Parts: sequence; C-alpha cells; structure tokens
Amino acid sequence: MSRFVTPALALSPTPDEQAAQAFVSSLRNHVLNPLAAAMKARFEAEIAPSLPEGATGRDVHAAMRGDRLFRFYSAARVKAQDMVWASVRPIIDRERRSLADRFRALAADRTTAGTLTLDPGLPIPKNVAALDVHRMPGNYHLDAGADDLAAGALYENGLAVFSFGLMGETLDDIGQSIALWLRHRLPDFAPDAVLDLGCSVGHQTLPWKRAYPDARVTGIDVAPACLRYAHARAQAMGVEAHFVQADATRAPFPDASFDLVFSSMFLHELPKADIRAVFREAHRLLRPGGLMLHYELPPNAKLSPYDGFYLDWDSDYNSEPYYRGYRDLVPADEVARAGFHGFFEASVPSLGWYGADAIVAAADADRAEASDRLGRLGDGVTWYCYGGFRGPAA
Ligand SMILES: C[S@@+](CC[C@H](N)C(=O)[O-])C[C@H]1O[C@@H](n2cnc3c(N)ncnc32)[C@H](O)[C@@H]1O
Repeated sequence: MSRFVTPALALSPTPDEQAAQAFVSSLRNHVLNPLAAAMKARFEAEIAPSLPEGATGRDVHAAMRGDRLFRFYSAARVKAQDMVWASVRPIIDRERRSLADRFRALAADRTTAGTLTLDPGLPIPKNVAALDVHRMPGNYHLDAGADDLAAGALYENGLAVFSFGLMGETLDDIGQSIALWLRHRLPDFAPDAVLDLGCSVGHQTLPWKRAYPDARVTGIDVAPACLRYAHARAQAMGVEAHFVQADATRAPFPDASFDLVFSSMFLHELPKADIRAVFREAHRLLRPGGLMLHYELPPNAKLSPYDGFYLDWDSDYNSEPYYRGYRDLVPADEVARAGFHGFFEASVPSLGWYGADAIVAAADADRAEASDRLGRLGDGVTWYCYGGFRGPAA
C-alpha cells in the first residue's frame, strides 16, 4: 500500500509486511462491499417490513443489534480496523530514526518556502486527548518531541491501507476534486489567503495551493507530529504551504485574514459546542465576501433511515463518539446560526473516479441552477460539501 504514501516519506516494509497490508485492504473491501450488501439485503427482506412508519437510523440500529449478520459484519469491521494500524505500526517504530532524518533534511531544504510553526504550550482539546479516534493507537497528538513524525506517518500509512485506493493516488482526491469544482462553480473567486482547519498531514491542504497558486495557504491542527509530517510532505512535493499548531476554535490569526476557510473530515470529530465555535471563528477570520466550505459526511436528514444507521456505525463501534451528533445537525441551520448567508451544498464527483470533465459538468450544472441543490448524493464516489459566505462588513 506504500504506493499511496508520499515517496520521500515512504517506509520500507518487508515482503511479509506488504502482504499483510494488502490482506487488510482486501479484508476491508470485502467487509464494506459484499458483506455490507448482504447485510442490507437481509435488512430489506427481514427487518424493514416490521419497522414502524417514520423509523429513524437509531430504530434501525436497535432492530439490527441482535442480527447475526450485523454482529459478524461489526466484529469483522472492528478487527479489520485494528489490523490497519497493526499493519503499519511496527514498521514506523523500526524507521523512526530514518523518518526523523528525512524530516530534518526536508525542513532544511529551502527550495520551497513553506513554514512550520509549533506551539508546545497549546492545550490539546479533549476530543483529541481523551480517546484514540477511529481506534488509531496514540491518536493524532502523540509526540516524542523534536523531529518526531510517528503520528503523522501512522495516519498517512494507515489511511493508505484503510482506503484501498478510494482517496486517490496521493490520498488527496477530496481536496483536488473540491478545489477544481470550486474554481468552476465560482470562476470569479480568487482567494489571496486560504485556511485549512484540522489539516492533519496536509493531504487536502496542498490542492488549494495548486488550484490558487497566488494564494497563501495555511493549515492548522493541534497535533505536532502530524504537522511536522505535513511540512516535510509539502516540502518534498515542492508545494508551498504554512503549517501552524493551533486550535480551530480559537485560531491565532487576526480578524478578516482569510478569503477561504476550508475543512475536510474534521467537524465530525468535534463535540457540538466546538463545531459551533469553529463556525463562529471561521466567520471572524473571513474577509467580507469570503467563503466557508466544509467537506463532510452527509447529514442524517438527507439519508434513508438505513443509510443513516449504516454511516453512524462508527459512532458506536469505531471510537468516533461525535459522529452521530454531528450528523444529526442540519448544516444550513448551523451555517446561518454563525452569521453566514448564501448557504449551498453539493456532491462533488471524485476526480480519480470520474475525471475532471465530470467535475466541471457538475459545477456548471450547480451554477446554472444557482441553488442550494444537493445532487447526486449516493451515486458512486462523491464528496458532500457545503458552506456559506461572510457578508459585507457592518
Ligand atoms: C480526520 S483528521 C482530518 C484530516 C484532514 N483534514 C484530511 O482531510 O486529510 C482530523 C484532524 O483534526 C484535528 N483536530 C481535532 N480537533 C481540533 C481542533 N480543535 N483544532 C484543530 N485541529 C483539531 C486532529 O488532530 C486531526 O488531525
């Protein structure tokens, strides 16, 4: 699976370790495709007919809990999740020193003018410090100090095994697809400054620099080793970006410093109070006319009860305690509550799966309708995103 990992930071698994990673990826593929399809067929044939009118995802979960196929699916999926991390961790432990050496060399290379600013005194919020999100051992923030990259390496290498190609060759399909869509959806929008919240190792940060080469692109996260990895990765890829250790609920930037505040796969890992604080902070950080844009899981209100239950599986079994609470929120209400206007949402086709033409066609269709239409949800691999605009200064 190392083919999805940044070459300059790639590990050297033995043939046995490579085989183990390939096995874990195919096990996940098996659980999430044929096994999940069998479970859905069983639900439709045997459980759905007895559910009352108006049943919710929670009702579906309650009805499925005792089902043998659901229990087998859940056990296999939890086991596969733990095997993801186990398939990369020993290699990272073995190569810690080499990763640190590579970090130092890449950080010292000034060919690309990116920066890294860490804040060792920053308190790690409870949603990160108190759990291992998606059962990732040590979570994002584990840090041995100085030039430690281990948490970032665990995230990138684990994601490569976990996603079995769905996230693109360089694990940045979300950022690439949405940046391309935005350029066509809003052709006159030319941000000078872009902020990526909860950027982790920067997979979805760098596509913004490529889409808007004149913009200053900044990624923030609370996790130091992920940010070191992000910086090394950006330097290795020759893309200028600025990574800052900061909490997105109170970011260390002046009012009106950005034109675009973006996040990807971030909000569902926050408690509700922090999601609202992040939206208020995005409003403060944006210039008049600026755009807040989030890629996220689709809200429960947009899905059938079964699909809601299926997505919320992670909340109950994958150490994602905020997942369901996030998905119960209504994006349009939250965006308006923070003072934004012009709410919109879209399902952006994946660049890797459908190509640039499909994204341009989707953006053209969305622009022609000039609405908050949510199209194509559930049709293949699409990235659900939504946002709103900062109004003119009062
Ligand atoms: C799933 S990862 C995001 C991945 C990345 N945005 C992407 O799409 O590739 C969630 C990230 O949010 C960070 N995080 C959690 N709470 C945060 C907060 N309050 N402020 C900034 N970052 C936070 C975590 O450290 C973690 O790196």
